[in-house]
Amino acid sequence: MAEVISLMDIDEDDNHQKQNHSHKQNKGKSDVAATDAKATPWVEKYRPQSLADVAAHRDIVDTIDRLTSENRLPHLLLYGPPGTGKTSTILAVARKLYGAQYHNMILELNASDDRGIDVVRQQIQDFASTQSFSFGAKSSVKLILLDEADAMTKDAQFALRRVIEKYTKNARFALICNHVNKIIPALQSRCTRFRFAPLDPIHVSERLKHVIEAEGLDAPDSGLAALVRLSNGDMRKALNILQSTHMASQQITEEAVYLCTGNPLPKDIEQISYWLLNESFMESFTRTHLNFSEYLK
Ligand SMILES: Nc1ncnc2c1ncn2[C@@H]1O[C@H](COP(=O)(O)OP(=O)(O)OP(=O)(O)O)[C@@H](O)[C@H]1O
Ligand SMILES: [Mg+2]
Repeated sequence: MAEVISLMDIDEDDNHQKQNHSHKQNKGKSDVAATDAKATPWVEKYRPQSLADVAAHRDIVDTIDRLTSENRLPHLLLYGPPGTGKTSTILAVARKLYGAQYHNMILELNASDDRGIDVVRQQIQDFASTQSFSFGAKSSVKLILLDEADAMTKDAQFALRRVIEKYTKNARFALICNHVNKIIPALQSRCTRFRFAPLDPIHVSERLKHVIEAEGLDAPDSGLAALVRLSNGDMRKALNILQSTHMASQQITEEAVYLCTGNPLPKDIEQISYWLLNESFMESFTRTHLNFSEYLK
């Protein structure tokens, strides 16, 4: 238990320039293989398959990777904003622990499931107390994934305290949420916490380039920069904008990206601000109306 405590609160440093370089060669190999090309949304098609594929968060991922390899995985609490790789990381851990058969060894409960106290207790009990075998599994300890744990009622969270303790021998719990302050302190203290910060622009850009190359897209630098800017460190958002821009336009230009998201182009905003600061209000309004009527609708 000692190292579990010392690992508490490993916060992600946003500026890990060194990340990923050693993993570049592995990136994407497994990504592309398992997919049925056109039908799949790119967020799923390019979901990291292994821990090495997870962009950014190198400190966190390496720590989890090491603990997994040594079979010393603590209960985990991963938190941070959407689209930063929390669920992907846990699924990659499950794949590493149990191989392709990981579905048998992992119980996934998310906010859309009924997670009242009794349901949680019963489902977890049923799952944790039965023996499951998975070919090639490195571990017999099961994984219970509580995604969107911040949506659980306080009562259910209180009930979970005992459940976690009771099943620690047979199962590891991974709680995932956006808002860690909605998780009761007693649960937080039973887990090793990792904060997934928004991805920095370098990593979003690197990952997007990988997808752009794999899909054979025509995306000039200005288009890529617009995608990075509009996604604000949310990799899911970046991939969704890329895919919808691709459906609407041949080339992923800055204009196409802004048009697709409905955001006004930075150069248009600059022009309108210039008029507002240098012309009378009526004149600015008329010019804006004539040139950018779509923004006034
Ligand atoms: N660190 C990352 N590296 C590579 N791809 C990522 C990363 N983070 C997110 N993605 C992409 O975004 C998609 C969504 O990621 P994921 O489900 O892991 O996010 P999350 O952090 O669990 O978000 P939420 O809080 O909304 O559940 C993934 O399928 C993947 O395509
Ligand atoms: Mg998630």
